[in-house]
Amino acid sequence: MASSSFSDHYLRLLFSIMAFAVSAFIFFLIQKRSSKPRLNLPPGPRGWPVVGNLFQVARSGKHFFEYVEDIRQIYGPIFTLQMGYRTMIILSGADLIHEALIKRGSTFASRPAENPTRIVFSSNKFSVNAAVYGSLWRSLRRNMVENMLSPSRLQEFRDVRKNAMDKLVRRIRADADANGGVVWVLKNARFAVFCILLAMCFGLEMDEESVEKMDQVLKTVLLTVDPRIDDFLPTLRPFFSKQRKRAMEVRTEQIEFVVQFINRRRKALQNPGSDISATSFSYLDTLFNLKVDGRESSPTDAELVTLCSEFLNGGTDTTATAIEWGIAELIANPNIQNKLHEEIKQLVGDRKVEESDVEKLPYLQAVVKELLRRHPPTYFSLTHSAIETTKLGGYDIPVEASVEVYLAGISNDPEVWKNPEKFDPERFVSGKEDADMTGSKGLKMIPFGVGRRICPGLGMATIHVHLMLARLVQEFEWSSYPPNSELDFTKKYEFTVVMKNPIRAIARTRA
Ligand code: HEM
Repeated sequence: MASSSFSDHYLRLLFSIMAFAVSAFIFFLIQKRSSKPRLNLPPGPRGWPVVGNLFQVARSGKHFFEYVEDIRQIYGPIFTLQMGYRTMIILSGADLIHEALIKRGSTFASRPAENPTRIVFSSNKFSVNAAVYGSLWRSLRRNMVENMLSPSRLQEFRDVRKNAMDKLVRRIRADADANGGVVWVLKNARFAVFCILLAMCFGLEMDEESVEKMDQVLKTVLLTVDPRIDDFLPTLRPFFSKQRKRAMEVRTEQIEFVVQFINRRRKALQNPGSDISATSFSYLDTLFNLKVDGRESSPTDAELVTLCSEFLNGGTDTTATAIEWGIAELIANPNIQNKLHEEIKQLVGDRKVEESDVEKLPYLQAVVKELLRRHPPTYFSLTHSAIETTKLGGYDIPVEASVEVYLAGISNDPEVWKNPEKFDPERFVSGKEDADMTGSKGLKMIPFGVGRRICPGLGMATIHVHLMLARLVQEFEWSSYPPNSELDFTKKYEFTVVMKNPIRAIARTRA
């Protein structure tokens, strides 16, 4: 998912060294550029030599997604931002996205070259999300989808989800009791979904301390691989040796910590019955002896760490973000919250909502769909690239360009949706509007991306969001804190697009 705003630290650094760097390299780079054949790139704001549009983006003081939202109004559904040496082509129109990711899906299904830090953390692109389009990607993705995320496999983890939901309700109740009824929504939702993914990934029970530590390790990794200014201006790399060294330390810490659990699972498999918490199946089991096309050996420990981290990262912040926006909308729209609660009460009664109930709860489904339309957890897909230099919308798309797909552009487009700003699940209930999230019937909302790289976790993620929201509304009546205050719907980027001020809400246990 595309980069966000630049921190003050990098801005200051940027300005102080740019004067020198620019003048030193400008002549060399202009010379180099002029020797390339001229391309007809999509339009975009005029940039400076060498740095391109980096200054405009950095000085706008906006998050990257806000900057994109503004300038797409000027340049339309396809435009270019020259981010230092990186050519970024941004697609935000449904027709062009359909053409690129569905009609010509194989052409745009690759990933661009990584920066050196990401190469290390992705074990040289040995993961589903980072692999370039080809046989390695196919093997890793097929394994994840068929051996772990298929409907029958997901069924096997039903109890894990049920236990995590019970635990979530207990944690919220305890939080509320200890804090005068007030709870942190995101933190609790995040913990619940992380526990589910950990159990699926390692097939082991972990104490709370290990869960917290794992979370912290993976968060540090995400921060470490966030784009830095020298990713856009590689000539500045010598100034970032400290950060590179720190990144390598983080990688070592990540491997050392995660490998302990990999080894615990290995032992549990070798000595059945030795670890009473071990479940009968886990994602790791599919990876230990995985033979990917074109390679004799099984994944190394470092590669296993990369694959497990991807599994955990892919579904944690994304799902938790959806829950936070969901609770916020239910608080801001008490009539919707009441209607949802009524539906659950009538169709499920006094027992706890189970995932098999979801298909009988049309209003819940409408609320979740509206939630993913109005607040897609990530505003961009992961960065795509073409497998060869090609054309799109009449423009050249160089093979090395980063192609960013602005997902939020479609689902909040007034030409596609009536009153897109309004949170209105009724639009799906009445049958007046509909949208499928896989893009098979046209593109109206694509919170999971679309085409060959569509999120493989779509099925599992939607189970999690439905189940969690249903349980949270069944058990608690949600309202704002301080009482009767208006919620602040300002957004910020933090791996996903979250609420700028994470909500603390009043969760009153229902009678
Ligand atoms: C609400 C939750 C989620 C949302 C909104 C979401 C969204 C996305 C998006 C937008 C992409 C990029 C698609 C593209 O590049 O075109 C993606 C890719 C991916 N997601 Fe998810 N995701 C969610 C949950 C999950 C879960 C639960 C998992 C798995 C455990 C997962 C694993 C992945 C992987 C491995 C990829 C890379 C696919 C590839 O490159 O082939 N995601 N997701």
